Amino acid sequence: MIRAASAYRIALLPGDGIGGEVLDAAVRVLESLPLGWDWQTGEIGWGAYTRHGTPLPEETLQLVQACDAALFGAVTTPPDVPGYRSPVVRLRQELDLYANIRPCRSIPHPASRPGVNLIIVRENTEDAYTGAEELSADGETALGQIRITRRASQRVMRAACRLAEQRGLRRVTVVHKANVLRQTSGLFRRTALETAAEFPDLQVDEMLVDTCAMELIRAPEQFGVIVTTNLFGDILSDEASALVGGLGLACSANLGERHAVFEPVHGSAPGLAGRGVANPLAMIGSAALMLDFLGEGEWAARLQAAVEAVIRAGQVTSDLGGKLTTQQTAEAVIQVIFSEQ
Ligand code: NAI
Ligand code: MG
Repeated sequence: MIRAASAYRIALLPGDGIGGEVLDAAVRVLESLPLGWDWQTGEIGWGAYTRHGTPLPEETLQLVQACDAALFGAVTTPPDVPGYRSPVVRLRQELDLYANIRPCRSIPHPASRPGVNLIIVRENTEDAYTGAEELSADGETALGQIRITRRASQRVMRAACRLAEQRGLRRVTVVHKANVLRQTSGLFRRTALETAAEFPDLQVDEMLVDTCAMELIRAPEQFGVIVTTNLFGDILSDEASALVGGLGLACSANLGERHAVFEPVHGSAPGLAGRGVANPLAMIGSAALMLDFLGEGEWAARLQAAVEAVIRAGQVTSDLGGKLTTQQTAEAVIQVIFSEQ
């Protein structure tokens, strides 16, 4: 096989906890492919904070900006450190990664519901995640801001509709809470439904977020693309992952006009960290999304197929009922990729 003349320059951001373990596994899989890679490692997270006084050093931001794409593991965000903010949220905002794409498909496993093939597209830069929160001097009242703009709502809706077209998903459901959050959710709803006019071939409808949470459990096969604001998308995507094998499999892409960061939906899983037993398939699936983004659609598809094959064969970690370690699972994926040649 011919190795690519030029290498893809990829920022690797392991972060904390199991982040580095699953990232190593994904890198191992990517390195097995006949493509050129130029890996560049950057620091992020609680560990970076303890070493440099910031969870997202400027060099890391510049690194991601200078690379073709980034792979990010996970970070630990301790809730009780005053002034500390999750670097993931800041990374998405600084790089204007406005669309968070979270696919959810049935897997050949008893833990998975059948017939699910949906994608949650979560607005990624605003809503209740702007950091504009304050606690009163007496500590009795906390106030936060929700920020919704027409611009962000429109571009995430366009991204969702384009994705629906690309993936052959006809239905796009705009999820909001405009019955109560009349201005903020109201603006998102109005803008998204207006933008739908640009996509006459799609079937666009709307649903309240609480109804959507229920419908995802009752009849998840009804959904195509769900497009929603930041907080609702965060919650619904963890929920949806539980329908199809759980967080150990849920992958995501953060896409902007100029940059892209690929990451598992899960966090740093402190209880699993350091034991080499975390499921790497969410990270490997995220690497497949990156391959697609880089224009390596064929390898992306083969990687996806290999992930399904190891699940079918029970070559998985304990969260899916298997006995393999993180690295053994990666090896199993590599074996499948090349056994099918
Ligand atoms: P978590 O996603 O780390 O873990 C939730 C549950 O899923 C745990 O039972 C964990 O063992 C399991 N799990 C997660 N990933 C797994 C994997 N790859 N294989 C097998 N099992 C897996 O969420 P949690 O426990 O709420 O948060 C832990 C830390 O992660 C916190 O500090 C939180 O702030 C942070 N976090 C970071 C995120 C990120 O970096 N994008 C996202 C979510 C949470
Ligand atoms: Mg989350």
